[in-house]
Amino acid sequence: MNKRIVLLPGDGIGPEVIAQCLKVLRAVEGKFGLTVDTEEALIGGAAIDATGDPLPETTLAACRKADAVLLGAVGGPQWDACPRRPESGLLALRKQLDLFANLRPAVVFPELAELSALHPRTVEKGVDILVVRELTGGLYFGRPAGEEKRGGRRVAFNTMIYSEDEIRRIARAAFSAARSRSGRVCSVDKSNVLHVGRLWRTVVEETHRDWPDVELSHLYVDNCAMQIIINPAQFDVILTGNLFGDILSDEAAAVTGSLGMLPSASLSGPAEDGGTGIYEPVHGSAPDIAGRDTANPFAAILSLAMMLRMTLGLPEAADAVEKAVRAVLREGRRTADIAAVGHKGAILGCNEAGDLTAAKV
Ligand code: IPM
Ligand code: MG
Repeated sequence: MNKRIVLLPGDGIGPEVIAQCLKVLRAVEGKFGLTVDTEEALIGGAAIDATGDPLPETTLAACRKADAVLLGAVGGPQWDACPRRPESGLLALRKQLDLFANLRPAVVFPELAELSALHPRTVEKGVDILVVRELTGGLYFGRPAGEEKRGGRRVAFNTMIYSEDEIRRIARAAFSAARSRSGRVCSVDKSNVLHVGRLWRTVVEETHRDWPDVELSHLYVDNCAMQIIINPAQFDVILTGNLFGDILSDEAAAVTGSLGMLPSASLSGPAEDGGTGIYEPVHGSAPDIAGRDTANPFAAILSLAMMLRMTLGLPEAADAVEKAVRAVLREGRRTADIAAVGHKGAILGCNEAGDLTAAKV
């Protein structure tokens, strides 16, 4: 089988973690008899420096032709004042490829349960949440948006808008994902205040009629934020819009205590329909530790595993990569971010973590 993937290392620790993915990918090729053509392209701050554009045409064209895209991270303080920030390259890529379904699993790894921001008692029942976040609409993309002067004062505004089609397709993605999990979807909105929330809830309920085997519940976003802290084990799939999903997925990550371990997929349809997907770690570019070989590459490596499973149709290869990461953890090897207080033994560097994982595939 011959596949093409585009690597977008991006900024900060992005290039370091993507380099480790490549090692693991080469090990997978050897073991599972596939050939993956990889091509690197520029995005974010690196692309601004080289071309002035956070999403150059050549990058977009390469991504469109690929089976899947593996992205590191974008952003850094040196570009904060740019008129088009690095993040806008990522947002434009999501929009251009119509990657409306963002899947963010937040899992407590038993080996790392003590890192949870919550009391061990709260996470010991196991936390395995999948945040399904709408990614190409809502407040992030609604028009009008901007800043202007009104009556001599500066005002800024964004528009939260969802069409029923946009809600329906992300609801389907969530119901479909729930079927291969515990079969429960909790839809999150602010329908007690917002028109958008009321349409959201109505359309999610309508869509649910086609998925009677999936259990549907609803929460207001503020209550959901609280429930994730009080009892995260109650959740299976959380379905929500773009802004709420951005916030709740970071919160769920903090519950697991290991942001450095969390992968994500952004797809243009339910997983089984394929389409070019972008796979990326949930963590950011961490400019403060970039270039020091201290970053945790596991989130990126686990994103590669998601890609193998969801876009490349190689579940055995995905399992092998996930098992390899778990094996490294079970040996007590830890990168700095996941080393508990009192950790004994040497801290794992980014490169060594990649080598060890590749060797275990
Ligand atoms: C994320 C990030 C992005 C977002 C930023 C970098 C634009 O926070 O993927 O969650 O807000 O979507
Ligand atoms: Mg975010």
